[in-house]
Amino acid sequence: MSLFPESFISPEVATQLAPEYILRSLKASDYHHNVLNVLKDLTTVGDISEAKFIEQCEFMHSRQGEYFMIVIEKISTGNVVAVGTLLVERKFIHECGLVGHIEDIAVAKSEQGKSLGKKIIAALDFIGQKSGCYKNILDCSPYNEQFYVKCGYSNVGFEMTKRF
Ligand SMILES: CC(C)(COP(=O)(O)OP(=O)(O)OC[C@H]1O[C@@H](n2cnc3c(N)ncnc32)[C@H](O)[C@@H]1OP(=O)(O)O)[C@@H](O)C(=O)NCCC(=O)NCCS
Repeated sequence: MSLFPESFISPEVATQLAPEYILRSLKASDYHHNVLNVLKDLTTVGDISEAKFIEQCEFMHSRQGEYFMIVIEKISTGNVVAVGTLLVERKFIHECGLVGHIEDIAVAKSEQGKSLGKKIIAALDFIGQKSGCYKNILDCSPYNEQFYVKCGYSNVGFEMTKRF
């Protein structure tokens, strides 16, 4: 089960990828293909059962047009080596505009520095535009600011947070 239709996969980014990789939607079977380990390079993931993983996938699938979690798979191993999510928010401002929120970007340590991160962001930009978003936004640490600048993003302010 893919989370969203193939038409949301950027043909341009897909063809720019080296032939050993494929860009696609997250699938429930990715539980067995390293996706949670890739996310562990980003932050704490915790102990997630396969049942819980499938439940999350089914929820995201049920919210068509809202959750877009994409992955890059390394064909030779079948493992996920890069991930990213776009969450589409419906607003009242800007004539009921849509904003894309980029979340949880991670590339497996062994695959960093090969432009896969840049491809993930470009693929999420395509989804945002295709969905009708007037902009995509994201939060990041100062350490990663220049990565996002290279992806065409600019720093327009501060990130504020309150933990619960
Ligand atoms: C940040 C991350 C996603 C970048 O992915 P990547 O595939 O290694 O990056 P790319 O190879 O696509 O890099 C694209 C460009 O950004 C640069 N870049 C990458 N990370 C950078 C950083 N932290 N600081 C400055 N520049 C960086 C690269 O040198 C490259 O420059 P070039 O186009 O001039 O050659 C990856 O390092 C990662 O997963 N880190 C751990 C998790 C994390 O911090 N995620 C981001 C959460 S906000």
